Amino acid sequence: MLVKPHELFQDALAGGFALGAFNTSNLEVTQAIISGAARQNSPVIVQTSAGAIEYAGLKPLSALVTALAHEAPVPVVLHLDHGKDAALVEKCIAAGYTSVMIDASTKTFTENISIVQEIVAIAHRHGVWVEAELGTILGLEGAKQLGGEAAPADLLTNPGQAKRFAEETQADALAVSVGTIHGAFTGQEYIRFELLAKLSEAVPDLPLVLHGASGISDADLTRAAGTHVCKINVDTELRQVFERAVRAYFEQPHDMVDPRDILAPAREAVRDVVESKIRLFGSGARSR
Ligand code: G3H
Ligand code: ZN
Repeated sequence: MLVKPHELFQDALAGGFALGAFNTSNLEVTQAIISGAARQNSPVIVQTSAGAIEYAGLKPLSALVTALAHEAPVPVVLHLDHGKDAALVEKCIAAGYTSVMIDASTKTFTENISIVQEIVAIAHRHGVWVEAELGTILGLEGAKQLGGEAAPADLLTNPGQAKRFAEETQADALAVSVGTIHGAFTGQEYIRFELLAKLSEAVPDLPLVLHGASGISDADLTRAAGTHVCKINVDTELRQVFERAVRAYFEQPHDMVDPRDILAPAREAVRDVVESKIRLFGSGARSR
């Protein structure tokens, strides 16, 4: 069933586990995410970026996730990932998203606060959950400029600012920069657990969100899920196994070409990764 995430986050914060949030832009990956969650009896967050919406179309993509969610035996949240402006947020809410992220992290601290306040006012009128971001979570390009070095301290989320940000914005969850990097990054990428502890102390009632989980060790993901991190975003690792499975198909002789034959193994490979992340995050058997 398609649900609002409020109670799921309460459970995650109280129960010391994290909800897996997996990105999709098509049928097979969405099926893989939802069936992986169902096999683990876990609630799950299906998220679409602005790029995915542009690729698939907002109506087809939201209809797809909603239809599969309605058939699912576990709670499914439909979330906008890294939304950049109020116009897209409003369209997603109208299309049935139950959760949105507004990412104004490239703006100044005060601009970020006022943008998030605007989104919270819109979203909360519809009972929609709002995730905001404070600090800079680098993408691959930004990370390359570091030349293999770890993310510098000035990009990380400041606990004092987090407290003020939470009070002034009333956001429901906060994406924090604690050392992870978006994409398949091979340089120094690790979670600063001391910083996570300080952030949890600064905003004890606010669920934290970990972005850029691909490439982080299993042990660290499990450890993070046991803190105030209640949502962990995974995208790149799903894309990688999808690609590997498609390549493997073409390496074998085949007479007829049928998209179903090409994509079904990729769908299974993605489902396996979703299940293994859910086990690491501890959300299995937590379905309400
Ligand atoms: O917002 C999406 C994510 O933070 C995914 O990051 O591609 O490194 O798994 P990732
Ligand atoms: Zn992200």
